[in-house]
Amino acid sequence: MLDAGAIRRATYRDLDQMIEVEQRCFTSYLAYSRRQLQYLLTEANSDCFAEVVHDSLRGFIIVLYRENATVAGIETLNVDPLHHGKGIGIRLLQAAEEEMFIHDIKRIRLEVRINNLPAIKLYQRAGFETVAFLPNYYLVDCNGSRDAFRMVKKLT
Ligand SMILES: CC(C)(COP(=O)(O)OP(=O)(O)OC[C@H]1O[C@@H](n2cnc3c(N)ncnc32)[C@H](O)[C@@H]1OP(=O)(O)O)[C@@H](O)C(=O)NCCC(=O)NCCS
Repeated sequence: MLDAGAIRRATYRDLDQMIEVEQRCFTSYLAYSRRQLQYLLTEANSDCFAEVVHDSLRGFIIVLYRENATVAGIETLNVDPLHHGKGIGIRLLQAAEEEMFIHDIKRIRLEVRINNLPAIKLYQRAGFETVAFLPNYYLVDCNGSRDAFRMVKKLT
């Protein structure tokens, strides 16, 4: 059943809840640190959106831009495990895509672990295609693998 909260820009005031969601999604050695998330949220050339119900943040997405580039990257997309399967991830991705379109982005790129089936399925459903297999892409093992797929979607 669809359980829709509001999607809005994330701000510094969301940082604590973003870290909580990040830590619930990933074991400690895989999760972004506070410092990394703060950088992505407040200093990087990025757009960050959060899905929120009654001030409770249930998911977020971070898009990274490069100067004068028409390709942008999904840096991370995380939904609180308590709220998986409610359409939050796909709605966050749609919100990010709308913003990227406004920024004149033509292509979205991301890397995803080859064993992260929920994420791969979500990206496929959203129209992404796998364009490369990247052996040992990640520095740290997760369930015995460091490999990634690169996925791409053209924005029209
Ligand atoms: C991947 C993730 C963001 C999905 O978020 P979500 O809100 O649960 O996903 P949604 O409910 O929006 O699902 C959208 C689509 O994704 C696919 N999907 C999501 N979870 C799935 C699962 N467990 N198994 C198979 N397909 C799945 C389905 O196609 C689904 O569409 P459908 O429900 O119509 O079949 C979430 O599982 C998550 O936060 N995982 C941990 C963090 C992570 O790995 N992020 C990705 C980093 S690249």
